[in-house]
Amino acid sequence: MTPIRHLLTLSDLEVEELKAIFHEAIELKKAYKNGVREKLLDGKVLGMIFEKMSLRTRVSFEAGINHLGGSAMLLEDRHVGIGTREAIKDVARVLSSMVDCIVFRAKSHKVVQEFASWSSVPVINALTDKAHPCQALADMLTIYEEFGSFDDVKIAWVGDSNNVSASLVEAAAMFGVHIALSSPVGYHFTKEEIQELTRLRQPGFELSLHENPADAVRGARVVYTDVWVSMGEEAEEKERLEKFAPFQVNAALMKHARKDAIFMHCLPARRGLEVTDEVIDSPQSRIVEEAENRMHAQKGLLLWLLRN
Ligand code: CP
Ligand code: NVA
Repeated sequence: MTPIRHLLTLSDLEVEELKAIFHEAIELKKAYKNGVREKLLDGKVLGMIFEKMSLRTRVSFEAGINHLGGSAMLLEDRHVGIGTREAIKDVARVLSSMVDCIVFRAKSHKVVQEFASWSSVPVINALTDKAHPCQALADMLTIYEEFGSFDDVKIAWVGDSNNVSASLVEAAAMFGVHIALSSPVGYHFTKEEIQELTRLRQPGFELSLHENPADAVRGARVVYTDVWVSMGEEAEEKERLEKFAPFQVNAALMKHARKDAIFMHCLPARRGLEVTDEVIDSPQSRIVEEAENRMHAQKGLLLWLLRN
């Protein structure tokens, strides 16, 4: 029997598999924009467990599977109690006996790994403390649409080394793109983490680290940031807001990027902290396109996982 494929991090896929999903997403988006709604996943059911808040992830999965003829059910963890009301393995075995695929947003990456090891259907990481693979997949789609290719694209990440940037580094490695990271001292990825995230690096991939955000942004065509305090880090808020203040993406910082540069943010954003209104509302901002692409990218992923 072929083992069940999960998507807990992007490098659970081979590079060619990632590219196949990516190109499928492009085709699905085109079809959707032309009013085509083929029932490619007719009758398939998605179970979605959320231990944390969500707008984009939940809606993009639910709308996406509905467009493809399937359906989704939301399971808020307060109604399930994974690991509290019930053992992780019992939830995984029972839920996977009734649905075709499980989307899981969890506080702990380890919990999703354990859950997936007991699931008899594919499990998709919908964000953990370590990774946000669906976000990175959609972000690469947004960048590709903007510039028509990844050649001559440099991505500047300014801010925290977190779940979103980890998956973006992984995506840049697998698509062979230059990424420059700038984070405050004490908030960098470790050498081991970089090694792991870039395991599947392809020609064209380059990673540079910068103390000064302007150095990361210089010559970039994508300037990307995320919140300074992720969900679950609220106790560190005061310290983080102080340390990250010099890493705000504002108009002065954007001036160092190329003229055709775009601004990206996975959202939700804390306006006035990691990004100013001036930048996030500017013509360079692609936040809405980026959010919409979550749906197209995940449709490609669902088709690939459920066809396998
Ligand atoms: N970007 C993202 O994952 O958004 P939500 O937290 O709203 O799902
Ligand atoms: N880094 C953020 C991303 C939210 C989509 C968080 O984990 O809260």
